[in-house]
Amino acid sequence: MEQTFLMVKPDGVQRNLIGEIVTRFERKGFKLAGAKLMNISKETAEQHYQEHNDKPFFGELVSFITSAPVFAMVWEGENVIATARQMMGKTNPQEALPGTIRGDYGLTVGKNIIHGSDAPESAKREIDLFFNETEIVEFEKNGNNWV
Ligand code: PPS
Repeated sequence: MEQTFLMVKPDGVQRNLIGEIVTRFERKGFKLAGAKLMNISKETAEQHYQEHNDKPFFGELVSFITSAPVFAMVWEGENVIATARQMMGKTNPQEALPGTIRGDYGLTVGKNIIHGSDAPESAKREIDLFFNETEIVEFEKNGNNWV
């Protein structure tokens, strides 16, 4: 089953949006396979955002993501990578549609509440960066038969 890495960013944690965000993905029918509240080191942040290291906002991005705890998650389900991105809405909250997480809760591109992997390769890379094997739980949920 497809897996993706999602992360409530520091602004989402500070604004008490963890529960709201987890609820949206649970209600959609996805399964939580791992989660933890954590501080990200500068090294991990730089690795996570390595594809943006030549962008003018890279320093700001790393300093923001390391400024306070994040809530890192692994979610699982059919087409979860693309569907989670749809549920998150566009990167810039001002362009994100109402009904999406960023459209409903975000205002600025720097503080846009949530990160989600954009492709299977980045999902695997990001899951491996943030979680070790023992932190990802394989289990059956009866509810899966009803989705
Ligand atoms: S790009 O240039 O299109 O590749 O970048 P994009 O995919 O839009 O954004 C990549 C991540 O960088 C964050 N971002 C910013 N942070 C701070 N300041 C500015 N100006 C800025 N622009 C983009 C954006 O929220 C993305 O973070 P993630 O965690 O990947 O969603």
